[in-house]
Amino acid sequence: MSEKNSLKWGRQMAAIPGPSIIPDRVLAAFSQPMPDLYEGPLVEEQAIVRERLPSIAKTEGECFIITGNGHAGWQMATSNTLAAGDKVLVAEAGRFATIWGIYTSVSDVEVELLEGNDREPVDPAALEARLTEDTGHEIKAVLVAHVDTASSVRNDIPALRRAMDAAGHPALLMVDCIASMGCEEFRMDEWGVDIALAGCQKGLMVPPGISFVWASDKALAAHARADRRVGYFDWDARLDGSNMYSYYAGTPPIPHLRGLLEAMKIIEEEGGLEATWRRHEILASGVKAAVEAWSAPGGIEFNILDSDSRSNCVTTVLTGGLDPSELRSLCEKQAGLVLGLGIAGIDGFRLAHMGHLNPPMILGAIGTIEAALHSLGSPMGSSGVAAAAAAIGPHL
Ligand SMILES: Cc1ncc(COP(=O)(O)O)c(C=O)c1O
Repeated sequence: MSEKNSLKWGRQMAAIPGPSIIPDRVLAAFSQPMPDLYEGPLVEEQAIVRERLPSIAKTEGECFIITGNGHAGWQMATSNTLAAGDKVLVAEAGRFATIWGIYTSVSDVEVELLEGNDREPVDPAALEARLTEDTGHEIKAVLVAHVDTASSVRNDIPALRRAMDAAGHPALLMVDCIASMGCEEFRMDEWGVDIALAGCQKGLMVPPGISFVWASDKALAAHARADRRVGYFDWDARLDGSNMYSYYAGTPPIPHLRGLLEAMKIIEEEGGLEATWRRHEILASGVKAAVEAWSAPGGIEFNILDSDSRSNCVTTVLTGGLDPSELRSLCEKQAGLVLGLGIAGIDGFRLAHMGHLNPPMILGAIGTIEAALHSLGSPMGSSGVAAAAAAIGPHL
């Protein structure tokens, strides 16, 4: 497929589920000269970031900033709260919670899978049943993803909390919000979440490189018996007083902190987190309307079966008889739209709708996919563009 004479020669749009599109203001914040490490603007800027971070997860609890990606967040969460021989229960739905379990299993922690699948959320009744059986409280933590970026399922975290309470089980509830933070409603304290974690590169609109772990008092208390601790991630050193250098376990990630401060200002200017969640919900309603309209036997289909469990930040789409790599390649090489690859054996494509996006961007992406579906002769129910415009229109 020649890229000469293609139509892609405007600004490329990456609609992959992270890293997301970075606002120019955030990129500009990255290019400032380095400041003094111990005095002056950096000290104030990072203090503002730290002060505001708990509100991003809707918690009064502690937030730790790690120079590292989401995997580092996983490591901080489990290494600070578990002891050798502990058992954790991974609530499977899609892929990412399961990988978190695999990473945890190398630390002498027993990992049990509450089996799920790629097309449905975690079943709260199954979680309650398994925890009720665990009368000796061997399970010390339940690990779950809020949104699984492979399948695009959104798990019902309040329902999972209720299931744990109904079983009368004291395990920590640890939630991976790496795909969802800043996109989906999430209320750590109100929902009874003990640990939440996120990366900066999706809804929070910052290039990859830092991650966050929010810890409740119960999680901080679990630290006292944790013997899987690792120096770099250890909460004790990071909580050791006012010393910025020990809080970051070394030199702070200065450009990321400045970029994050700018991203937080953008969220504030939008009207706060609730307004950001609402924009995601409206743009996602356009995407969902489009996929619904395109759906046809032997063609396009949602990966997630139940409409209430489809996330507001990414949609995984199955393509029936059409090879998804052909669709992605046509979109990218001929139209400048980069779609997410189907991962974890889910043979489709992923359209991200997370972060710094507005209607022309999302409607443009939907229109481009529709043009490619026409070009490839895929069976199509009706126009996704018309359906998306009708879904978004009333909110303009
Ligand atoms: C839900 C979820 N969890 C964890 C990760 C891992 O994050 P990272 O790649 O930043 O380590 C990702 C990455 O896409 C994710 O989407």
